[in-house]
Amino acid sequence: MFFRFSVIRELCIISIVGYVSGQVQQQILNKLACIEHEECGPCLSAAAHCRWCADPYYSSSVPRCNDDETLVADGCAQNMIQRPYMSIWDVVQNHTLQDISPDSPEAVVQIQPQKISFSLKPRETKIIKFSYRPAKNYPLDLYYLMDLTWSMKDDKETLVSLRDDLPILLKNLTDNFRLGFGSFAEKPIMPFISVDPRRLENPCAVEEEACEATYSYKHHLSLTNQVNEFIEKVNRSSVTANLDNAEAQLDALVQAITCDEQVGWSPHSRKIVILLSDGLMHTAGDGKLGGASMKNDEECHLDKNGYYSVAGIYDYPSIAQVYRLLDKYKVNVIFAVTEDVKSHYDSLHELLRDYTYVAKLERDSSNILKLVKLGYEDIVSVVNFEDDSVAGPVKVKYLTDCGVKGGSIDEATRCTGVKYGMTLNYEAHVSLESCPEYKKSKQTITISESQLGQDSLTLEVEIQCGCDCEGDSQQGILLRCSPNSHLVCGVCRCNKGWSGPKCDCSIEDEAASAALSSQCREPNVTRAILCSGFGECVCGQCECDAGSNGRYCQCKACPKSRVNNVECGGIERGVCVCGECACVNGWSGDSCDCTESTDTCVAPGSDDVCSGHGECVCGQCKCFKADQGTAYSGAFCETCANCVNPLCANAEPCILCHLNSSCTDICTIGNVNYTVSERMNEAPNINDTTCILRQEENSLNCEYRYTYRAAGKSMIAMEMVIIAKECTQPTSAMIMTNALIIMMCVIAIGVIIILGVKSAQVVSDRRAYAKFMQEAQESRKNMQELNPLYKSPISEFRLPESYPRDRHDL
Ligand SMILES: *[C@@H]1O[C@H](CO)[C@@H](O)[C@H](O)[C@H]1NC(C)=O
Ligand SMILES: *[C@@H]1O[C@H](CO)[C@@H](O)[C@H](O)[C@H]1NC(C)=O
Ligand SMILES: *[C@@H]1O[C@H](CO)[C@@H](O)[C@H](O)[C@H]1NC(C)=O
Ligand SMILES: *[C@@H]1O[C@H](CO)[C@@H](O)[C@H](O)[C@H]1NC(C)=O
Ligand SMILES: *[C@@H]1O[C@H](CO)[C@@H](O)[C@H](O)[C@H]1NC(C)=O
Ligand SMILES: *[C@@H]1O[C@H](CO)[C@@H](O)[C@H](O)[C@H]1NC(C)=O
Ligand SMILES: *[C@@H]1O[C@H](CO)[C@@H](O)[C@H](O)[C@H]1NC(C)=O
Repeated sequence: MFFRFSVIRELCIISIVGYVSGQVQQQILNKLACIEHEECGPCLSAAAHCRWCADPYYSSSVPRCNDDETLVADGCAQNMIQRPYMSIWDVVQNHTLQDISPDSPEAVVQIQPQKISFSLKPRETKIIKFSYRPAKNYPLDLYYLMDLTWSMKDDKETLVSLRDDLPILLKNLTDNFRLGFGSFAEKPIMPFISVDPRRLENPCAVEEEACEATYSYKHHLSLTNQVNEFIEKVNRSSVTANLDNAEAQLDALVQAITCDEQVGWSPHSRKIVILLSDGLMHTAGDGKLGGASMKNDEECHLDKNGYYSVAGIYDYPSIAQVYRLLDKYKVNVIFAVTEDVKSHYDSLHELLRDYTYVAKLERDSSNILKLVKLGYEDIVSVVNFEDDSVAGPVKVKYLTDCGVKGGSIDEATRCTGVKYGMTLNYEAHVSLESCPEYKKSKQTITISESQLGQDSLTLEVEIQCGCDCEGDSQQGILLRCSPNSHLVCGVCRCNKGWSGPKCDCSIEDEAASAALSSQCREPNVTRAILCSGFGECVCGQCECDAGSNGRYCQCKACPKSRVNNVECGGIERGVCVCGECACVNGWSGDSCDCTESTDTCVAPGSDDVCSGHGECVCGQCKCFKADQGTAYSGAFCETCANCVNPLCANAEPCILCHLNSSCTDICTIGNVNYTVSERMNEAPNINDTTCILRQEENSLNCEYRYTYRAAGKSMIAMEMVIIAKECTQPTSAMIMTNALIIMMCVIAIGVIIILGVKSAQVVSDRRAYAKFMQEAQESRKNMQELNPLYKSPISEFRLPESYPRDRHDL
């Protein structure tokens, strides 16, 4: 504690010089990050450059935690300087991905690498890249679990009738399959069955048929690749009956999962139980009605005939128990159930998500093969990674591209739509936020696919907290330490139960503790309160509450990075100095989140930061405000209202070649790689700049709209997204058509007019003629009547009637 004053002195000196430049300020902060610490472990964890002097003869008036040069300059023996441990990175096992080969089915490798051993310091993050590829022909263990109550009689017969199609279907799914068979009905206890002695023996007596006495679960056939044997066993099984419409599905499921030995589950296989039923299910609590009151023990209890022997003693399992078992044994369940009970199983599926699939079974099971195929495909299409890091201080975060070539890598553990042959790339970001205790320790993390759980990636993490000198107790120097203390890393540390500067204050002794309380007040602060109000004073030492630190609990925790949620952005970016982040070169901001590199502000194919129209702030362009003239915008301040956007123009050839499908995945122009994708009708992000490309297609004028974005933060790769297409008639064709129409119209109108005129003429001619004729006639008549002088030139003679008509006859 004696060096406190010298620390303050030192700081004062530096502070005076301090505000000269940022560089010096950085140095101060770097120094401050170390000297605050009074023990070796916290010292080395504080920042990468902090060293601890474990030399017992080192001056007690200068800080023991400091940078290398200062410690040497202050007289610390070279060999007594404690340095951070060397970083470790060792890929222990890295076999390449391997599909199943017929001769060595064991040699399958679905995850690469398999084992890595590495170290982590506090606030450090390491990125582990791994790939996963589902292997072709992965062994499949399929266990038929059939409801053999009376109503399922016909379903059994259907399954037998499918004996030829079943192997063909399974062969199509995988070359290595095995089948097993079990059946279930109901716990043989009141009130689920009738206890009338006649019906006890033959529960189907009312149907006047013979059937087996009611049982809960019976295992008929262990997993085998002999389909004939399977069919025979199904054919030979007999039905039974019970009273209610709910059966013991869960009892059966738990037995089928846990009776590893009898069922014969292989350690390297995908395990699927297909459960056929037309009834509801009993769950935990229902058994109590019939006196099966003990909680299900999740153990296998089969007698030598394959019957579940303690059905009447243990209750039905709960959904939570089933979930735990499915997860533990990595078994998937396909519920093939009839329509009337499907909704019941759908809600069960909600609770047992990734492990179950529900499908509608026809009344007579005729669609069972299709269900097996769909269920299997659904189950294998989901890949989900999980690990067992929860217990330890090391945390893992996952990013994945879900097997999309060139796709973006986003935070997720689960991928859907996975097909055989796809390689999924994952990144595990493994980080240690802070030291759980100042000791070197190990944590082993197993990352595995959650549904198969067989191949795994093992991470052996050495947690580098603490110092090598921790354990030393150099007897000879013990003399220098007071009676209740021992030497640790060069300083006297009080034994358990003792505290105070000389370790003579018992923690239990409140009076002695109170006497030292003045030492819990920050010096040189007027009216300082004990431990700044954020801790408890014990024998002159502050025990700070969570979130506060420092000798007097005067410091707050530092802000966490918004990017990786680690204090001051992690070990590579900055250190925490009494509530403030001191960022290393190249980083800035409150939590050292801002990179000072301008790489992300330079447009691809350009040399200017923000195209010369803005400044790069925290890795992003801030375009200058337009005083007069043009206002620039865009991610690189590259465009304005009436400029040609160079990024649009540069990418045009790649867009064109994408549109006529003549380029490969990546189109390269200059040193820029473009990937082009189409997301038509997607609303564009308002921050994206939209480019327009026009081209003629099948004599239509088409207009494409596309946006661009720097792919994966790298400025030399661009991701182009075509978001709209609109085609119209080209203008020349339009003019032609219009002209044609107009011409036709003109001609038509002309013809109509001519016809009109002509017909009008004809009509009027006819009328005139008619009039003329009438007039002529009238005038003739009139002439006869009106002119007294008129004498008709026509003379008329008549032969008398008596005159013989034909003289020749005479
Ligand atoms: C494992 O080996 C492959 C080459 O087979 C290599 O590309 C990969 O980087 C290695 N993985 C690790 C973690 O070193
Ligand atoms: C087998 O699989 C292939 C492709 O996966 C499919 O085209 C074919 O129809 C399947 N055959 C049967 C019998 O399901
Ligand atoms: C099923 O069993 C019956 C007799 O119980 C027999 O006649 C029939 O041939 C069997 N079917 C098959 C496919 O084995
Ligand atoms: C306390 O502060 C005063 C001025 O603020 C300074 O002169 C004095 O040296 C400080 N005392 C210590 C012990 O740092
Ligand atoms: C596709 O477009 C590119 C760029 O315009 C052009 O060079 C190429 O000849 C076109 N290919 C076909 C098949 O039209
Ligand atoms: C561009 O693509 C080529 C070929 O695919 C590749 O070799 C190169 O590394 C890529 N460049 C960048 C900057 O991604
Ligand atoms: C657009 O940019 C602003 C600031 O640059 C940001 O706050 C906002 O979230 C962005 N919007 C989208 C949809 O990305």
